[in-house]
Amino acid sequence: MTEIISDDIKIRLPHTLTHFGIKGEIGEVIEGPLIYDVQFKLAEGSKFSYLEGLIKDIARELGVSGIRVSQIPNSVYISFEIPLPQAKTVPFSPITYSAEFMRATYALPICVGVNMHGEPVMKDLSKMPHLLVAGTTGSGKSVGLNSFILSLITKKKPEELQFVLIDPKRIEFSMYNNQKYMMRPVITDMNSACACLSQLAGEMEERYTVFEKEMVRNIGEYHKKGGKMPYIVCVIDEFADLIMFDKTVEKQVQILAQKSRAAGIHLVIATQRPSVDVITGTIKANLPTRLSYKVSSPADSMTVLNTTGAEDLVGRGDSLLLEENGTLTRILGAYVSDEDIMNTLEPYRCKMEEKKTYDVILKEKQEEQKVIISERMQKNEQKKGVFAKIWDFWCRLGKRNQNRIINMIVGFILALFGVKSTTGSSARNLRNAVQKTAKKISKKR
Ligand SMILES: Nc1ncnc2c1ncn2[C@@H]1O[C@H](COP(=O)(O)OP(=O)(O)OP(=O)(O)O)[C@@H](O)[C@H]1O
Ligand SMILES: [Mg+2]
Repeated sequence: MTEIISDDIKIRLPHTLTHFGIKGEIGEVIEGPLIYDVQFKLAEGSKFSYLEGLIKDIARELGVSGIRVSQIPNSVYISFEIPLPQAKTVPFSPITYSAEFMRATYALPICVGVNMHGEPVMKDLSKMPHLLVAGTTGSGKSVGLNSFILSLITKKKPEELQFVLIDPKRIEFSMYNNQKYMMRPVITDMNSACACLSQLAGEMEERYTVFEKEMVRNIGEYHKKGGKMPYIVCVIDEFADLIMFDKTVEKQVQILAQKSRAAGIHLVIATQRPSVDVITGTIKANLPTRLSYKVSSPADSMTVLNTTGAEDLVGRGDSLLLEENGTLTRILGAYVSDEDIMNTLEPYRCKMEEKKTYDVILKEKQEEQKVIISERMQKNEQKKGVFAKIWDFWCRLGKRNQNRIINMIVGFILALFGVKSTTGSSARNLRNAVQKTAKKISKKR
């Protein structure tokens, strides 16, 4: 592949385009961390769709891996995104000192990365209100998720924000354990993950009950009234594993995605497999904001973004963000190192036992329930009538003792009526009859 430099492009691109019969005028060339953004004004009467169809051949002729071409909204120019010979890495920590980051006073500010000119892109997760992240293996999803979590931690206090992190791979989020920001330890097994999603739905309902009492419509209004309630952000890395393990997860995600925005519960769901059996119609309908890193085929790009293009991304954090209003922006994710994570988290370390996790609360509730049940049983015991107590005592005696008592009582009654011998046939018959009746009664009980 031939190296291409900024000045080169100004000559080579129009030259190549004329080979394909495309005429126009080159505009500004901006060098970003990942691409040259080349603005180009097509000659009058030229068709953009014709150019789009030729873009792979143009890339081949220029000797670059892939070119993305898009129309600039409200402008006569179109934009060619031509990859740099060597992509630059954008580190995360300098972004936290940038004006854009400081200025972001959103409810849940996340740094998605930098735009193609290298300026930080901040978005409000609470407005999204959920985010679907897709991309092939090694495309930068986990690095991206870490940068979202860290930007939230940098901007919000633990009282304002709590995380639920689900990590089937077990290694991606382990450093977030023992954190004041964690609602519960990082979940790594599927059963707990499914249980946790339904607990979140329960938490959502409880929050609505509080809002109803306080006569407010959402968490924002509740905060304005002086109420204290943290936002909850649930991040799921490798959603495909979860939905394949338990299909009901789709329903749970749907319930949460539809109703949890006002309750301040937000989902960030990442998947390596952006196929239709993972990103189903229901999931898509409920998660309109989607971030696609490099995917392996145009079909996958269609599934995530409703358009092709994500298959031509460079990888290593290169992504396309589809917003709720349909705008598509190319963003390069910021690189988060383990050191960045450790440094950001250090002040908020705590022992997980200090915090009551969902598991502990659940166990406590179960214990309470057990105590209540046993107390009730004791009360019922006390309420029992005298007859029931005598009957219980009778049953505990055993057959031999029961026979003895019957013999004694019958003997006593016969003696009262002047019958001399209990061994006489009439006395024996009477005794047997009493015993049989007692047996029948005990069988019925
Ligand atoms: N924004 C970035 N800037 C520079 N390099 C990056 C960036 N994002 C990812 N990388 C590089 O790509 C590698 C893989 O990234 P990451 O682990 O996030 O991929 P992934 O999509 O989560 O993959 P998998 O699906 O296998 O978990 C990282 O170790 C890093 O070297
Ligand atoms: Mg990953």
